[in-house]
Amino acid sequence: MRDTAAPEIAPLLLDWYDRHARDLPWRVPPGSDARADPYRIWLSEVMLQQTTVAAVQGYFLRFTARWPTVEALAAAEDADVMAEWAGLGYYARARNLLACARVLSAQGGFPRDSDGLLKLPGIGPYTAAAIAAIAFDQPETVVDGNVERVMARLFDEHMPLPAAKPVLTAHAARLTPRMRPGDYAQAVMDLGATICTPRNPACGICPLMRHCAARVAGTAASLPHKTRKPAKPVRQGIAYIGQRRDGAWLMERRPARGLLGGMLGWPGTGWTDAPPNDAPPIAADWQVVPGEVRHTFTHFHLRLSLRAAHLPMSAPGHFVAAELFDPADLPTLMRKAHALGAAHLSQMEAS
Ligand code: ADE
Repeated sequence: MRDTAAPEIAPLLLDWYDRHARDLPWRVPPGSDARADPYRIWLSEVMLQQTTVAAVQGYFLRFTARWPTVEALAAAEDADVMAEWAGLGYYARARNLLACARVLSAQGGFPRDSDGLLKLPGIGPYTAAAIAAIAFDQPETVVDGNVERVMARLFDEHMPLPAAKPVLTAHAARLTPRMRPGDYAQAVMDLGATICTPRNPACGICPLMRHCAARVAGTAASLPHKTRKPAKPVRQGIAYIGQRRDGAWLMERRPARGLLGGMLGWPGTGWTDAPPNDAPPIAADWQVVPGEVRHTFTHFHLRLSLRAAHLPMSAPGHFVAAELFDPADLPTLMRKAHALGAAHLSQMEAS
């Protein structure tokens, strides 16, 4: 992009956004007089970190139906919020969300600028800028992966991420307008999600095609470059799926800190590089379940072996009654373990 073209970018994007904005449940349509609700913008932005718009929509609608305001969320039970979040991953986000709701509710609502927002639990520079821009129309520069990709292409920037982050952020800041910064932030994200896509960008229908340096150079599809990440190690563990005669399940709530923190799960060993030793939570006739559960976390792949047992009514431990048990309340790993373990338990029953 030529430097002198900078003032032309925002009007082109806003004009495109006025015609093509995605219809999303937390949004107000462009040009509408309604203001976006900061509670809904905050919740959507926290949910959208590391998760796609498609995956988030159902969660967002269930959350806002159950807790329509920040005060309602602040008054929720921790376990209910964790269960509603189950499957979205990165559970520290949910714990911070609740902590933040309680602070916001006590202080009577949202600060309107990013400095105030940054002081809240779980709100970093990205989320603060997104809320300030989208809910309060402050001229903040919002930079997520979509925006980085659009900037890398517009400026044909070949420096790899993450080293290129400050350069791409500076480009994004220069293009941010003082008029309609909230719509502008959402316009760049929508462009990145629908036209300036990671693979096969639709350059032929892009509103910025005349200004895009990567389009001229023929490099758009290969940008942004990324420094190769080290391969993830494989860890192993054993989980114990135990069910009482009345259908209740032996479960435990995981410690608040650490992976799947605060979530309900199956008792088990730690997850280690070497094969773990059996360590049943209670004495019972634990049987080896054929197969294993595979799941990938941010920093490692996990292979989880299962043991299953029918337990007597006198068994000690924390049991979740059959009528209160819903696999949808579990994080995905624990849900997969339930599917495999429960199938084996019904086979044991039959034989
Ligand atoms: N991804 C993250 N936040 C978004 C938003 N506000 N609009 C579109 N895509 C997004």
